[in-house]
Amino acid sequence: MKLYRAKDYKDMSRKAANIISAQVIMKPDCVLGLATGSTPLGTYQQLIDWYNKGDLDFSETKSVNLDEYKGLPKDNDQSYYYFMYNNLFKHININLDNTNVPNGMEPDSEKECSRYEQVISGLGGVDLQLLGLGHNGHIGFNEPAQAFEKTTHCVDLTESTIEANKRFFASIDDVPKQAYTMGIQTIMKAKKILLLVSGEDKAAILRDALCGPVTPQVPASILQLHNDVIVVADEAALSKMPK
Ligand code: F6R
Repeated sequence: MKLYRAKDYKDMSRKAANIISAQVIMKPDCVLGLATGSTPLGTYQQLIDWYNKGDLDFSETKSVNLDEYKGLPKDNDQSYYYFMYNNLFKHININLDNTNVPNGMEPDSEKECSRYEQVISGLGGVDLQLLGLGHNGHIGFNEPAQAFEKTTHCVDLTESTIEANKRFFASIDDVPKQAYTMGIQTIMKAKKILLLVSGEDKAAILRDALCGPVTPQVPASILQLHNDVIVVADEAALSKMPK
């Protein structure tokens, strides 16, 4: 595991964008595993800036996203497809046909999860998987559990997640109760993993994930067993690491 220390969020984002750029330059038709959330926003913006300067070309690049809410159509402003389209895809020259996000509108979970696994393996697997870290150690929608979930699966969102998401919807009934997510094995199969962590509120969980026991109670701790992980974290997120 390589750990790159960044000064702050901006520095983390630039370092991460450099790593992703190197991947795209060295293998233009690479498969990028992408994440949503607030952590990668600065990285995506940096990639867009370099694309606009003519330094990057995504015309052959493919992407697979980690997760999507079940029951939300692509054009719902809370869907992860909408997030990816508006925060990255529409600003660069990636071919939308080469982008993949689980289909939240497929009601048959088994069908959608096996389709998504086939999409990933059909692309030859993920070259570089970008990850954010949840406050409870989750990666994708793989929440703390008794065992590591393997492949793409449908998860029931916790009451607290549903409650937290309520503010984005007209009523509690409209809040998605389930999501599709890559499993731990799907994530671990990526050739390279790039974990981004920013902020003091993530310091304790980052320490547990990197230095604590490997346990499904801290899903990100499994990354200790991957042979090519790069962690880019800012000083605040690293503030609880053992000296
Ligand atoms: C996003 C995802 C989540 C986030 C995590 C951190 O696709 O799967 O695991 O990476 O919840 O979220 P932020 O970056 O908002 O702190």
